[in-house]
Amino acid sequence: MEWGMKNRLSHLIQKDGKALFLPVDHGYFQGPTHCLEKPAETIKPLWQYADALMLTRGVLRNCIDPTISKPYIMRVSGAVSVIGDMTAESIVTSVKEVIRLNASAVSMSVFVGTGGENKSLTNLGKLVDECEDYGIPVMAVTSVGKELEKREARYLALVARISAEIGARVVKTYYCKDKFEKVVDGCPVPIVIAGGPKTETQREVFDFVYDGMQKGAIGVNLGRNIWQTEAPVASMRAIQAIVHKNYTPQEAEDLYNQVKAGKA
Ligand code: 5RP
Repeated sequence: MEWGMKNRLSHLIQKDGKALFLPVDHGYFQGPTHCLEKPAETIKPLWQYADALMLTRGVLRNCIDPTISKPYIMRVSGAVSVIGDMTAESIVTSVKEVIRLNASAVSMSVFVGTGGENKSLTNLGKLVDECEDYGIPVMAVTSVGKELEKREARYLALVARISAEIGARVVKTYYCKDKFEKVVDGCPVPIVIAGGPKTETQREVFDFVYDGMQKGAIGVNLGRNIWQTEAPVASMRAIQAIVHKNYTPQEAEDLYNQVKAGKA
């Protein structure tokens, strides 16, 4: 691996081999998402605990102080909306712009098992070709089927492996309770877990993050289950402790309660 690629990956994946990404890119297809109406305000108390942010160029330019020393992953796919066909994405940001805005990596969605399957995978191949020329890692944001219904290990493993075969350097996938290790073991590049829609309790998040990491994920790319919660900073710090300090779900919950009560 060349120096530039290694260097950029080291911005994302820390020396302990783990990674905590904070995505705030949801507006690219959902518009002003709940608790992300003003991204600068959402990010402000949280960014210091993240290893990297994930966002679009629009939010970056308008909401992030350019003197911030925090790596970020730029989402470069889009041109769809929640009221249309969400699987018909195109690449909407050039690699020249990615370099100009000093991103450490780019991300794009792939949609296996949908009408957008071939187009998104072809786009992934083209993006990887272009980004590899400049040592920029591509993270594939994988999904299967229309939304949640196919979150089973066999489908998640399928899309993760296909994305890695095409050249993604990191794969983001959803967690599944049953046989998640099959997803990780079948994918030759690091896996990070996304959160999905907000869970009923924070403990559910701590449980799945811990279990996913025990089964080989290197970390998380968690948005709504942090910034849509009652206590985002407490949530972020508890997840950071699972990712980087091997906290158990119970230890994470204890930390969450302490931070929430202003005692830590
Ligand atoms: C939106 C994304 C998000 O970055 C990803 O889904 C993680 O966010 P969340 O934890 O809220 O699901 O790519 O398309």
